[in-house]
Amino acid sequence: MKILLLGQNGQVGWELQRSLSPLGELVALDRHSTEASGGSGDLIQTDALRQTVMRVRPDVIVNAAAYTAVDKAESEPELARTINAVAPGALAEAAHTLGALLVHYSTDYVFDGQGDQPWSEDAITGPLNVYGQTKLEGEQRIAASGARHLIFRTSWVYAARGGNFAKTMLRLAAERERLTVIDDQHGAPTGAELIADVSAHAIRQVLRQPQAAGTYHLAAAGATTWNGYARYVIDTARELRPELALACKEVAPVPTSAFPTPARRPLNSRLDTARLRQTFNLTLPPWQLGVRRMLSETL
Ligand SMILES: NC(=O)c1ccc[n+]([C@@H]2O[C@H](COP(=O)([O-])OP(=O)(O)OC[C@H]3O[C@@H](n4cnc5c(N)ncnc54)[C@H](OP(=O)(O)O)[C@@H]3O)[C@@H](O)[C@H]2O)c1
Repeated sequence: MKILLLGQNGQVGWELQRSLSPLGELVALDRHSTEASGGSGDLIQTDALRQTVMRVRPDVIVNAAAYTAVDKAESEPELARTINAVAPGALAEAAHTLGALLVHYSTDYVFDGQGDQPWSEDAITGPLNVYGQTKLEGEQRIAASGARHLIFRTSWVYAARGGNFAKTMLRLAAERERLTVIDDQHGAPTGAELIADVSAHAIRQVLRQPQAAGTYHLAAAGATTWNGYARYVIDTARELRPELALACKEVAPVPTSAFPTPARRPLNSRLDTARLRQTFNLTLPPWQLGVRRMLSETL
């Protein structure tokens, strides 16, 4: 089996390089890849991208590339749309032509964040910002293409590699006695490792049972707020590395309005993952497990 992975150096893409490699021959590209290094992996160059797909002739295309700068997207809507909607649509058309499976990632930001119940896959969407609108359009273009697909909507993604919210909180906690962190957005921090591992399991199952294809919510179990997440990170860091001299004595809760940003964000990002767990017979561990593991690796 041949798998084409796009966005190989993102948080999820990096972990997919690991989790997909036992499934078959992996051709992994990033935006700087050229024909000489395996093919064009730049989602802005849709014609070159299509040509690469048709030449590689993969059985599975996994698109981990995306425009993820949520605030910047407000001032670059066309670029965000090209990467998050037009390119996934082109990939889906190529996948349809080849009879390949397309795996793609989307976001809790397709919802408007009203209420306090976890969103099911069939809940009505209503993105609050450009990023969410472009991700939703990407989903719609894939669905309209007729390609067999798996779309995983996930939330609050972190990885051990590179910068992340937890590392920022620990840096601030070392410098300041009091942090203020938003306490009215609810969701589940979800590790790139978990997303990549679940993707690999689901791909194997869909290749055997095409009727399992579709859209799924994929997030760690439980929910917290950014404030709860920050407190868990600081408490766990103190437990794992007591010698760290963290100055922080208080993580004060503040509303979203305390940190104005160009893009509006949903308050309720809880995702109902029952469909994924049942269809693929998988367990999604509590969010704390992955965060603790990431801290054990990085501290
Ligand atoms: N991060 C989150 O909290 C979150 C939450 C919900 C859903 N998601 C979704 O999950 C998926 C994976 O996200 P992630 O957290 O792994 O994002 P990420 O770390 O920002 O990775 C995205 C990757 O896409 C690449 N990329 C950007 N523009 C490109 C282009 N024109 N051509 C090719 N590659 C390009 C980036 O490359 P450069 O580094 O060179 O820019 C980066 O490697 C995305 O679909 C995202 O929308 C993420």
